[in-house]
Amino acid sequence: MSGVSFSKVGVVGLGTMGAGIAEVLARGELAVVGIEVNSEALERGRGHLERSTGRAVKRGRLTEEGQRAILDRIALSTDFADLADCDLVIEAVPERLDLKRGVFAQLDRVCRPDAVLATNTSSLSVTEIAVSTNRPTKIVGVHFFNPAPVMKLVEVIRTVLTEPEAVTRVADLAAALGKTPVTIGDRAGFVANRLLFGYLGQAVTMLESGHATRDDIDTAMRTGGGLPMGPFTLMDLIGLDTCLEVLEAIHAETRDRRHAPSPLLRELVAAGLLGRKTGRGFYAYD
Ligand code: CAA
Repeated sequence: MSGVSFSKVGVVGLGTMGAGIAEVLARGELAVVGIEVNSEALERGRGHLERSTGRAVKRGRLTEEGQRAILDRIALSTDFADLADCDLVIEAVPERLDLKRGVFAQLDRVCRPDAVLATNTSSLSVTEIAVSTNRPTKIVGVHFFNPAPVMKLVEVIRTVLTEPEAVTRVADLAAALGKTPVTIGDRAGFVANRLLFGYLGQAVTMLESGHATRDDIDTAMRTGGGLPMGPFTLMDLIGLDTCLEVLEAIHAETRDRRHAPSPLLRELVAAGLLGRKTGRGFYAYD
């Protein structure tokens, strides 16, 4: 692929986002190594990849051979040592700083010293992750949107320590993969979530105050706001646990009450009702 300075890319964590990112990279004809924590999680990751590419086959957007070629480009493993010859690794594990720092410590040990290490965090500080490694100049944020194979935006986040070349190489990769990169500084929520989650948080507050129903709010924003999904459908797609984490991170930095998570969101997360991925959130799914 022209303009791409990476040839083998690792993805750590094959949940919704990691599997989607691995698919995007493999569609771009890059060799991909997908890492999960154990064989059960690895099989779930394989399931995500097969379902997402299978959907494209069903829609006539991809041939079965094309699907096979994409899946064949993704080597699945539970061993971090298989990332040793990657020149870029993208981490997409759950949004917990301790967990991400642990992953980066392992990556720092096994990856080549010149490899760029990226985090797909949607809310944590890229700088705090970077300073936990011995290569803070090679750490960037690369924030894809859900569903990663469909959404065009990729936020590329530079810290005050990141070398400009690492930022440019990652932004060029995103563009070569058909995405639209924007390069921004390290602030909670970056650009898109900082603006989007003020709105999503207010939708939950509005529901909780009882002056409009879930369906009426969703309908109003879909048909009047020109959006593909109303806020509750979208939060169920994102995952209510992720929504809570993003709101908490932005609120902690800004103290802006528009980002204070509402009790209803906390209650749903505590109950394990996390949206589509658990079969129930604001809506119930089959
Ligand atoms: N994985 C892969 N492909 C998917 C998919 C998925 N989960 N969901 C849909 N698609 C594909 C479909 O295959 C279809 O592709 P083709 O046109 O090539 O056939 C295309 O997307 C459209 O899908 P559908 O016709 O089934 O449904 P739709 O028209 O309602 O679109 C949608 C679905 C793309 C998700 C659309 O509703 C949408 O854009 N919703 C808003 C999504 C959004 O705002 N995401 C950002 C969330 S914020 C975030 O992610 C940041 C964060 O840090 C939390």
